[in-house]
Amino acid sequence: MCGIVGYAGARPALEIVLDGLRRLEYRGYDSAGVAILSAAEIAVAKRAGKLANLDRVLAEVEDARIAAGTVGIGHTRWATHGGPTDRNAHPHLSADGRVAVIHNGIIENFALLRAELEAQGIEFQSETDTECVAHLLAFELAVVPEKGAAALAEAMRRVCRRLEGAFTLLAVDREAPDAVVGARRNSPLVVGVGQGENFLASDVSAFIAHTRDALELGQDQVVLITTEGVEVTDFEGKPAEARPYHVDWDARAAEKGGHDWFMEKEILEQPQAVHDTLLGRLSETGSILLDEVRLTDQDLRDVDKIFVVACGTAYHAGMVAKYAIEHWTRIPCEVELASEFRYRDPVLDRSTLVIAISQSGETMDTLMALRHAKEQKARVLAICNTNGSTIPRESDAVLYTHGGPEIAVASTKAFLTQLAACYLVGLHLAQVRGIKYADEVASVVEQLRAMPEAIATVLADLDGMRTLARDLSTRNTVLFIGRHVGYPVALEGALKLKELAYMHAEGFAAGELKHGPIALIDEGTPVVCVVPSPAGRGVLHDKIVSNIQEVRARGARTIVIAEEGDDAVVPYADHVIRVPRTPTLLAPFVTTVPLQVLACEIATARGHDVDQPRNLAKSVTVE
Ligand code: F6R
Repeated sequence: MCGIVGYAGARPALEIVLDGLRRLEYRGYDSAGVAILSAAEIAVAKRAGKLANLDRVLAEVEDARIAAGTVGIGHTRWATHGGPTDRNAHPHLSADGRVAVIHNGIIENFALLRAELEAQGIEFQSETDTECVAHLLAFELAVVPEKGAAALAEAMRRVCRRLEGAFTLLAVDREAPDAVVGARRNSPLVVGVGQGENFLASDVSAFIAHTRDALELGQDQVVLITTEGVEVTDFEGKPAEARPYHVDWDARAAEKGGHDWFMEKEILEQPQAVHDTLLGRLSETGSILLDEVRLTDQDLRDVDKIFVVACGTAYHAGMVAKYAIEHWTRIPCEVELASEFRYRDPVLDRSTLVIAISQSGETMDTLMALRHAKEQKARVLAICNTNGSTIPRESDAVLYTHGGPEIAVASTKAFLTQLAACYLVGLHLAQVRGIKYADEVASVVEQLRAMPEAIATVLADLDGMRTLARDLSTRNTVLFIGRHVGYPVALEGALKLKELAYMHAEGFAAGELKHGPIALIDEGTPVVCVVPSPAGRGVLHDKIVSNIQEVRARGARTIVIAEEGDDAVVPYADHVIRVPRTPTLLAPFVTTVPLQVLACEIATARGHDVDQPRNLAKSVTVE
């Protein structure tokens, strides 16, 4: 949800800012813009559409001031207030041209502020909430006693105290020519600390080519970067501590590495991502090692109810986890869409464990659900992929997935690593509580260890799915059915197809079909059927084979995802995609993968931008 970069140093800022924006473009791509400080002037270039449009503008203008400046800010936008036009693109200038501002988030009291500013004679140039901040900063700069960079920081603090909502703001002031000021409330902002240069960004991928030393900011803080250093205060001006950390992932992880799409690369990284997430957390003797999770064994023994809260793909991971967690721990586990959770007044107390799953760690709906849970005294455990993000910071405990950066907007490796993390939590709970199913832990640990290889096996044999995908790319509708853990997999398959291919795609619990949705089946309607293993839960397998027959009898074209050696599906399948034999509860590790590939291939065949689907953003930091 909007990518933000700031640079203060001795090198030309433009290239550094643009390179940072390229790495953040997954966060929003409705427009892009830069403001570069040079010779006590601010030069702004901005354009609606993707970053490539801004690149073209910059090439045409060839503004020497922009090329020479060594301090600058840049923005890539996911539109909230005001459509994706040139005028609404950031940066926004104050009326006197003294200050330029970029913003991620929503300023909820902007209508009031705008009315106040208009009453003072300000003529707004855009429909954004952000522009208010530029004008307010200019007013404050005219009255603060400080000078230069200190004045800019003080003006920002004063303005932030008046703002409601969620925001990351960066600003430059032509009278503070070596400084960028940032502010943060409920939206991400990290500092990159270099030698004689410093960076601000929505996430570290924007600056890891230059430095791996980062500072994590807290809520309601203002940060000033210059070539000399970094100063952090709260909104009142009290000095604040920022936690230093070292970014240890490989910079190449944030590159496409020869693939057409980040998504393609991230799908292929899944064996490694799951392996890394399990690494060091499974003992040789078959137990779970989760000392890093800051919940005591007694806390875990006291848990009598679990809620999983998450959005989108992470919610689907939670739906799968429910089956496993309840089975192993015998603790009731509910899965809730984070956006609904706090509005329905859920029953929570000290013995409730809330598991908040989020790849980005910044999803506002999930953050708000977490805060609600904490207010009700529940304990919150975050499962997150992004070190230093808000959701783990505000949780009582965190289990990081080690998926590496996920750049494509559609989640793939995040999903499988979230599953792995949820399973670790479920098994750990079972182990600590020593209840009936604790015996199962050792055998599941062995099965989990085998998952990276099983995923690699699926990935090695997907040509059939790719060919089929091209064939299906002209259809208008694709349906997905599954039972048990195959049901959330069906929902996930449909979500991927919707968001990437812009097709009507729906997932159903296979048993529900006959209660209505079967009416959708027409001659040739593709139905993807996620079939559980015939071993273990044979009943489940047989029931879905019946469901496949039901849809086929009504004309469906059946695409069956089934285990090696499952011959029972063959007579009813128009296409069979094979996955390795996997215990029922772990099957989503392998059955999800062909569906990701299906969506990626169909979207490519339809000529869409797979990494940056329309209307979406990677990290949804508004409610
Ligand atoms: C879909 C997708 C989204 C995210 C959702 C939650 O492919 O990526 O549905 O899963 O927005 O995001 P996080 O996990 O960052 O909280």
